[in-house]
Amino acid sequence: KQERKESMMIALNYAKDFFVETMQKNEEGNAVGLGYFRERGFNNQIISKFDLGYSLNEWNALEQNALKKGYQADILAAAGLIMQKNDRQYDRFRGRVMFPIHDLSGRVIAFGARTLKKDDKPKYLNSPETEVYHKSDVLYGIFQGKNPIRLKDNCFLVEGYTDVLAMHQAGIENVVASSGTALTEGQIKLIKRFTNNITVLYDGDEAGINASLRGTDLILEQGLDVRVVLFPEGHDPDSYCREVGSQRFGEYLEANAKDFILFKTESLLKGAENDPIKRANVTRDIVQSISKIPDPIKQSVFYKECSRLLGIEEEILVDEGRKLKSKEI
Ligand code: GTP
Ligand code: MN
Ligand code: MN
Ligand code: MN
Ligand code: MN
Repeated sequence: KQERKESMMIALNYAKDFFVETMQKNEEGNAVGLGYFRERGFNNQIISKFDLGYSLNEWNALEQNALKKGYQADILAAAGLIMQKNDRQYDRFRGRVMFPIHDLSGRVIAFGARTLKKDDKPKYLNSPETEVYHKSDVLYGIFQGKNPIRLKDNCFLVEGYTDVLAMHQAGIENVVASSGTALTEGQIKLIKRFTNNITVLYDGDEAGINASLRGTDLILEQGLDVRVVLFPEGHDPDSYCREVGSQRFGEYLEANAKDFILFKTESLLKGAENDPIKRANVTRDIVQSISKIPDPIKQSVFYKECSRLLGIEEEILVDEGRKLKSKEI
């Protein structure tokens, strides 16, 4: 069993090298893959730091090379690299730029793969769950980011692979990506090994705001301090960094990081000012978030602050929080 996992990781590492070499040395890889990253403004240092590569637009390029080198088809399939359907086999990743996903110690356990065609679906194709890749316990960028996260005592959380790349290129290396889904408990525990502070950077659209409001209670529950930065409409960290440059991007993060509970209170209150029923619901929602905070001192500070923002007596909020908490158990 352990031996099998070991073989899968050796095959994944081989695939990573193959995709890297294809992008650097093959004509198609160079023109299409490297050309794509260049076009988006990523430099060689980032490309090599993240082992970025390219998969040829052919059915069996990886498989044939791997078999020649002595890798076994069933291991390649178990690692999610090739598909086996009615005794036909083909490469999972074809004609895409490749983002290897590393575990905490830097070993490749999976891939994210972006299409280069506009409107091609899916935009990102990922490895399936395998014996070595448990999506819910993995964060993109944790290997490259773990020491910076510890040193800065803060972890920036972004949505996308390219957001991680752009931030590293801008010199901000304490960052991981959730890959577009809400954080799981396993992922939060992973971050907690290095810091108790998370700053969530989400796309500046309605979906981004909603995503940052959802799923954050779980982070609070784990006792982390959460801040939020919103980007201007239509921007994500990568596009915004490209637009304003590294220097101003860093300043923007500093100037706009807002405590999550206060951010939530203010954004939910917007548009509810003259609607008492809405305000009551908003209040309950916020009390729910505050009641998740395990540290009683922090909790009490937030009750005070939100009582002011909501115009509701602190005692009422505290009582309601207790009720919600006891209902849970
Ligand atoms: P770019 O368009 O390359 O800048 O990517 P992005 O990271 O900005 O993409 P987006 O904001 O649309 O999505 C954020 C993240 O969600 C991506 O980096 C992926 O990890 C994930 N994601 C997006 N689209 C898909 C998809 O079609 N399938 C899967 N499995 N994941 C996706
Ligand atoms: Mn699993
Ligand atoms: Mn988005
Ligand atoms: Mn995005
Ligand atoms: Mn993007």
